[in-house]
Amino acid sequence: MPAVVLIGAQWGDEGKGKATDLLGERVQWVVRYQGGNNAGHTVVLPDGKKFALHLIPSGILTPGVTSVIGNGVVVDPGVLLEELDGLERQGVDTSGLLVSADAHLIMPYHVAIDKVTERYLGKAKIGTTGRGIGPCYQDKIARVGVRAQDLLDEKILRQKVEAALDFKNQVLVKVYNRKALDPDQVVDTVLEHGAKFASRIADTRLLLNQALERGETVLLEGSQGTLLDVDHGTYPFVTSSNPTSGGASAGSGIGPTRITTVIGILKAYTTRVGSGPFPTELHDDMGEHLRKTGGEFGVTTGRSRRTGWFDAVIARYAARVNGITDYFLTKLDVLSGLEKVPVCVGYEIDGTRVDDMPMTQTDVHHAVPVYEELPGWFEDISECRTFEELPANAQAYVRHLEEISGARMSAIGVGPGRDQTIVRHDMLG
Ligand code: GDP
Ligand code: IMO
Ligand code: MG
Repeated sequence: MPAVVLIGAQWGDEGKGKATDLLGERVQWVVRYQGGNNAGHTVVLPDGKKFALHLIPSGILTPGVTSVIGNGVVVDPGVLLEELDGLERQGVDTSGLLVSADAHLIMPYHVAIDKVTERYLGKAKIGTTGRGIGPCYQDKIARVGVRAQDLLDEKILRQKVEAALDFKNQVLVKVYNRKALDPDQVVDTVLEHGAKFASRIADTRLLLNQALERGETVLLEGSQGTLLDVDHGTYPFVTSSNPTSGGASAGSGIGPTRITTVIGILKAYTTRVGSGPFPTELHDDMGEHLRKTGGEFGVTTGRSRRTGWFDAVIARYAARVNGITDYFLTKLDVLSGLEKVPVCVGYEIDGTRVDDMPMTQTDVHHAVPVYEELPGWFEDISECRTFEELPANAQAYVRHLEEISGARMSAIGVGPGRDQTIVRHDMLG
C-alpha cells in the first residue's frame, strides 16, 4: 500500500485539515512533513465539534491513527504541550502522537528574531506569522539548529544554546535594541518542556518505512501551499520550507517511489495571508463578500485573508510542480448567489498573453488576469451529496475548472463538515 501526499495548491488555507480528516478513516498514519505552528488546520467533526490544529497532524482526531511530526517540521516545545493539553481537555486521545528525533526545535530566540526582523523590514515585511519559523529553518540550514533528540542530552543542548546565543544576543541587543536572552533560562525552560514529551521522540523514518512494508497507508499532510514554497512559490513572500509534494519525501524519510497519489487541495476561489503578489485579488465589495461568506480570517493569527477569483494559471502550475493526481475542490458553496463567476484563465503581462506561471517575480507582479465569466447559481448547495444534485451551472463551473486545471476534480467541498463533501472518484483507489 502506498504513501499519499495531500498538499495546498494555492497560498494555504485551502481546507487541508478537512480533507485530511475525511481521509483519516482509511489510513493508519498521518504525518506532517514541513512547517510548524504557522499552520492553522480546521477540522469540524460530524458532531459539530470544531478543532484548530497548528502543529499536530489532523489525523490525531481519528481514533486508531498514529500521528507523526516528521523530521522536516519545526517544533516549538511549549506550543506542542499547549496543543496536546487543549486536545486532551476536549477528550481527544493523543497517546499515539510521535515526534521525529530529527525535527528541529523552535527556540525563544527564533521567535524573538522573527518578530524584530519583520518590524525592521517595515513596509517590505513578509507578513510572517511571527512564530519563529524562518529563523529556525535558517539555523537548520546553517547547521547550528537544536533538534528534538538534543532534549535527551542536556550537555549537548546546553552547548548548542550557549553557542547560538553568543551570536544571537549580540544581534538582538546591538542591531535591534532588544534584551539579551539568558542561556540558562532558555535551556531550563526547554528541558522542562522536553521532559513532558521525551517519550514521544522516535525514529519516525524507520517506523514509517516499516509500516509501508507491512502494507499500511501513510498520509502525508502538507501545511501552507504551493505558492508559499521556498523554491516554487512567490519568493521572497513565502514560508521557509517546501510544502510541495517533493518536500514530503525529505521531510518524512519516505522514498519518492513509495508515493503513488498526490491530492491537491484547491479552493474554488483564491485567498492569501501576508504580503506578496496576488494577480486575481479583489479590492472591492466582491472581495469583502468572499471574505465574509467564506469566513476568510486566519486560524493562526486572526488576520483577514486577502481574497480573489479562481486562478487557473496557479492550478496548472500546482498540478505540474506537485504531480497532482486528484484535486479536492473546496468551498464551492461560498460561490452560490453570484450572477456571474469570473475565472482567470491566463495573464496579460506588458501586452503579451501568457498561460503559464511567469519565470520572473517582476512578471508575476505585472500580471493582469484574463477572465472568462461563467454563469452562476443561486441555490444553497450545502446539502448536495452527489455531483448530479448540484445546479447545472455549478456542475459546469467544476467541469470547466477541471478542463483548465491539469487534474481531475475528485472531491468537492460544499461546507466545512466532514460529510459536506461530494466524492466523484475514489482518491485512494
Ligand atoms: P487549511 O489550513 O488548508 O487546513 O485550511 P483552514 O482551516 O485554514 O481554512 C479553511 C476553512 O474553510 C476552515 O474554516 C474550514 O472549516 C473551511 N472549509 C473547508 N472546506 C470547506 C468547504 O467546502 N466549504 C466551506 N464553506 N468551508 C470549508
Ligand atoms: P496553513 O497550513 C496561509 C504565510 C504567512 C506569510 C508567509 C511566511 O494553515 O495553510 P511564516 O510564518 O511561515 O514565515 O510566514 O507564509 N503562511 C500561511 N498562509 N496558511 C498557512 O498555513 C500559512 N503559514 C504561513 O502569512 O505570508
Ligand atoms: Mg490554515
